[in-house]
Amino acid sequence: MDKKIILITGSSDGIGKITATALAKQGHCVIIHGRNEAKVRGVVEAIKLASGNDAIDYVVADLLSLQQVKAMAMELTSRYGYLDVLINNAGAIFGKERKLSVDGFEQTIALNLLAPFLLIKLLLPSLQKSRSGRIINLYSAMHRRAGRPDLSDFNLERNFRTDRAYGLSKLYLVWLTRSFHQLFQKEGLSNLTINACHPGAVASNFGQDADKGFLMNSIFKMALYFMAKPEQGAGTSIYLASSPEVEGLSGNFYDAKAKLEKPDDRYYSEENAKIVWDFCDRSTKAFL
Ligand SMILES: NC(=O)c1ccc[n+]([C@@H]2O[C@H](COP(=O)([O-])OP(=O)(O)OC[C@H]3O[C@@H](n4cnc5c(N)ncnc54)[C@H](OP(=O)(O)O)[C@@H]3O)[C@@H](O)[C@H]2O)c1
Repeated sequence: MDKKIILITGSSDGIGKITATALAKQGHCVIIHGRNEAKVRGVVEAIKLASGNDAIDYVVADLLSLQQVKAMAMELTSRYGYLDVLINNAGAIFGKERKLSVDGFEQTIALNLLAPFLLIKLLLPSLQKSRSGRIINLYSAMHRRAGRPDLSDFNLERNFRTDRAYGLSKLYLVWLTRSFHQLFQKEGLSNLTINACHPGAVASNFGQDADKGFLMNSIFKMALYFMAKPEQGAGTSIYLASSPEVEGLSGNFYDAKAKLEKPDDRYYSEENAKIVWDFCDRSTKAFL
């Protein structure tokens, strides 16, 4: 087996933790990421025990802070020098009140869009040193329900709703995935691939703590009984990170059963994707 170094953001819980455990069992060197050091250390020990694999490392960063995203990338670059797989798994839906990150961005956009953008950019030199660098972004079926994006209002100052913020953050992540793929092709970075997958509706901590309003809170609680287990939701991430079948394949989108799917392209155009790219570039410039 080709032993890889794999970073999974948000692997202290939910789908990320299951993904990390499965990849550890395959014998890879897995880097667990979370924002709470005590929790992350506990997960590292549990995965070592479950997998019999001691090559489990960790890194701590609150991805709502671009400075912490940068510090994490710098730390990993000096620790390892190269990286084979980056899974941008961390993500969240927040409460009904619009809140800003420490950097002044609406927090759903900060966590689900700006953090993965900056992390990819900062870890690109490490991924380029891999024989076959893979990037996997987790999106969501809710990108289909975001409605018409307002590309002059990334901070959602107008018409804020928590489900709209989440849907838009994932729609823009789909567009970013394509833009990175096009960049890799243009620059001839043939050892790099980027794909995205959505895990399906999974009973995890996702959305359970945030106060989204009575109706949404009730829907999220009731839905837990019908949702898939994190083990099922992690299948496509595990496949895209490790399977030789997807070697060299890039710019694709996969469903929860690892089948190719087409995202909702009602509002996609190269011009619109460039507006999103430019927003991300501008917003993270100080940390590059
Ligand atoms: N569950 C679903 O139905 C579903 C559906 C579609 C897409 N997704 C996507 O799948 C991915 C994983 O979701 P999940 O269901 O596994 O969610 P989860 O159970 O809530 O786990 C989220 C992970 O991200 C971490 N995280 C959250 N905010 C963070 C922050 N500010 N900084 C650093 N880490 C942070 C969490 O850390 P802590 O352990 O500290 O909380 C946890 O490890 C997300 O991108 C989500 O959008 C989920």
